[in-house]
Amino acid sequence: MDHLIEPHGGTLVNLLAEGDRAREIRDRSREWISIDLTQRELCDLELLLNGGLSPLSGFMGSADSASVCSESRLANGTFWPLPITLGVEASAVDGVKEGAEVALRDAEGVMLAALTVSEVFEPDRGAEAEALFGDDGFRQRARARFLRRAPRFAVAGRLEGLQLPVHYDFRELRLTPLELRRKFGRLGWRRVLAYQTHQTMHRSHQASTQSAAQEVGASLLIHPVVGLNAPGDVDHYTRVRCYQEILPHYPAFLARLNLLPMAVRGGGPREALLHAIVHKNHGCTHFMVETNGGGSVLEVIGKPGYGDDEARELVASHAADLGIEMVASKEMVWADNRKRHVTVDEVTADDRVPRMTGDDVRRRLADGREIPDWFSFPGVVRELRLRHPGRHSQGFTVFCTGLSGSGKSTIANGLRVKLLELGGRGVTLLDGDLVRKNLSSELGFSKEHRDLNIRRIGFVASEITRGGGIAICAPIAPYDSVRHEVREMVQPCGGFVLVHVSTPLEVCEARDRKGMYAKARAGIIKEFTGVSDPYEIPEDADVSIDTSKVTPDEAVREVLSFLEREGYLSAADFD
Ligand code: PPS
Repeated sequence: MDHLIEPHGGTLVNLLAEGDRAREIRDRSREWISIDLTQRELCDLELLLNGGLSPLSGFMGSADSASVCSESRLANGTFWPLPITLGVEASAVDGVKEGAEVALRDAEGVMLAALTVSEVFEPDRGAEAEALFGDDGFRQRARARFLRRAPRFAVAGRLEGLQLPVHYDFRELRLTPLELRRKFGRLGWRRVLAYQTHQTMHRSHQASTQSAAQEVGASLLIHPVVGLNAPGDVDHYTRVRCYQEILPHYPAFLARLNLLPMAVRGGGPREALLHAIVHKNHGCTHFMVETNGGGSVLEVIGKPGYGDDEARELVASHAADLGIEMVASKEMVWADNRKRHVTVDEVTADDRVPRMTGDDVRRRLADGREIPDWFSFPGVVRELRLRHPGRHSQGFTVFCTGLSGSGKSTIANGLRVKLLELGGRGVTLLDGDLVRKNLSSELGFSKEHRDLNIRRIGFVASEITRGGGIAICAPIAPYDSVRHEVREMVQPCGGFVLVHVSTPLEVCEARDRKGMYAKARAGIIKEFTGVSDPYEIPEDADVSIDTSKVTPDEAVREVLSFLEREGYLSAADFD
């Protein structure tokens, strides 16, 4: 095969079974137990099956994973920076004894691979966390999340693939390492610089990648991660359309685009080493380490991903182990007076250098304000605007929380009618009682059931919001943590407004329209919010309304004013 660079470990792994063997696995698998893979594990599986993680030929066992954590080497001595393991929850571990055959499936139940178990073990998650995140303070949240979520057990064994995970989108851009190597051969590309990103690219990224590729005399492979995003990232559909808009701005024949089905781990510098290996396996000779390491956890914890120099130093110190050359990206900025990009080192006191952060872009998109031409390409801005219309045309959720009898339903109903009067978006009311009747009829009022009820409401509201509609929710929702969960569910889909209907308990109880408080005081109704069950006052409410002090009209007006101030209703709509 015409290839540019040896895969890591010397051979490009291919774990896909074919013909009779594949048929035999399918036939026999009917009796097997299944493991449904998480999104992250699916990404790992895809790269294991197609050779992206060569020389790994399966999920790691205890010897490899321990040795990788402590020595950055597989048990056979091959350099490898991070453990790649398949987790099993304690509740499922009984079925996966040594010798068992297990079907690995995606979320829809499609069988992707067979695993003949050779080992079930308890990985040292502390050591894994150390390898992934280091002990640097600013990655502690990601580290804690990993330790909370990582299953106690892991399973390893012979892995045989039946098919790669199914992707319906951008198929022509999803070349495997082998296909990409063949393509490089056809194109006559000998030196290829991989640029990995999980963020939208703008003019400065285009300028710095072009200059880096030209400096090392390489062609450029834009190799964005589209497996599992970090929270807050722009969805990959939009990003890929944006990358496609950027390609024509490179000199002819310089750059190509391919999608990398990898999960962003949000780790420390060692993650850069893993990326280097994956790009090498895809046939790239050079790898561009960004200043902020692709910003993998930038959005989550507000600090650079790998840590700037740390990642570069680590990759550079393992140059011989990796066999792929690192190219440190030079941050480029727009010098308005020179009408071109310059590296930050070239900036002089005379230069006018406008700056714009990711947050600025988000705000401008939300408010429908201009994004200057020096910052991005018109095609990219058009795609971002389609995906992030200004708030006045986005969907949103108004989530009213408060005690029984506080006036939530009255406000929600009044709001619904006013918003329908304004027209434009569809309005759906998810009132507490209605939801209890239709969506949560089997649930009671324990904390567990209340949380489940609110999560269901959150799910429906997020789908309505995603579709550009308005969801008005009015449950008691007494617990803070699940209210936060709902905010996190909805916010990526559009707006979220929390309205605390703060009418005091005495007033709610005096109203007692349904006679519930009397029954609760008499002990006939148990776990009644405010009487025998807690209500946690929200500290993150966007609007607080005490209906003992305002009329229903005024209450609705307060919410509408907030929506108008935040840009959800265009000024012309609002009288
Ligand atoms: S929760 O906590 O958000 O899941 O509650 P929610 O779905 O909004 O349901 C509240 C309505 O159910 C009636 N009800 C109770 N409320 C609180 N505690 C207990 N134990 C309870 N049992 C029944 C009550 O009438 C609530 O309706 P509203 O309209 O709020 O008065």
